[in-house]
Amino acid sequence: MTTKHADTAAPIHDLMATRWSGRAFDGSRLLAAEQVTALLEAARWSPSCYGDQPWRFVVCDKARDAGAWQAAVDCLVPFNAGWAQHAPLLVVICADPKFGHNGADNRWAAYDTGAATLALCLQANAMGMSTHQMGGFDEAKTRAAFGIPADAPIMAIVAVGYLGSDAGLDAELREREHAARARKPLGETFFAGGWGKAYV
Ligand SMILES: Cc1cc2nc3c(=O)[nH]c(=O)nc-3n(C[C@H](O)[C@H](O)[C@H](O)COP(=O)(O)O)c2cc1C
Repeated sequence: MTTKHADTAAPIHDLMATRWSGRAFDGSRLLAAEQVTALLEAARWSPSCYGDQPWRFVVCDKARDAGAWQAAVDCLVPFNAGWAQHAPLLVVICADPKFGHNGADNRWAAYDTGAATLALCLQANAMGMSTHQMGGFDEAKTRAAFGIPADAPIMAIVAVGYLGSDAGLDAELREREHAARARKPLGETFFAGGWGKAYV
């Protein structure tokens, strides 16, 4: 199994440095209910504006609800379904666009939902699993398949599971699976005291 450590300008915790989005999921390793609960707990304890917890995750666990899991696979664009069909857990990430306390628009709903999703991803990494977030899915189909309200944005579907052999990937995906991770230079996206002024 590939380990892809981030190349950082200063040391960071392994939990972040070793997280990467794998595709070579081992379809034979289903998750225990307790493992799935742990992933959700990590997300549940994320911070949110007003403590509103606007994330809404639809859990599609092959081990416990093969029908929902298959429905989630069927919502993915073919490129993603090709490899994500081997992930034993697919989580449909949605957000409630209204604040619970007053019904007003919550413009931080997507922000908070992304934070909760990353918490799930990091928890999975800590448990030796890989996660791969996907924006490539059919939105209308996903909304219909899971009864997601019309005003709730569907942010992503996340594949979760253990990585295994890359033999099922085509040559291009296999190459990507082992490629070094890359990021823009620090100063391109992090500014020192004002927009556009490169940090370091
Ligand atoms: C919101 C979002 C949508 C993404 N959509 C896809 C996707 O549809 N298919 C895919 O293969 N990867 C997808 N990715 C994975 C990114 O390509 C990946 O996170 C990025 O290249 C960085 O790689 P790393 O996560 O391994 O560091 C998505 C990631 C995010 C956060």
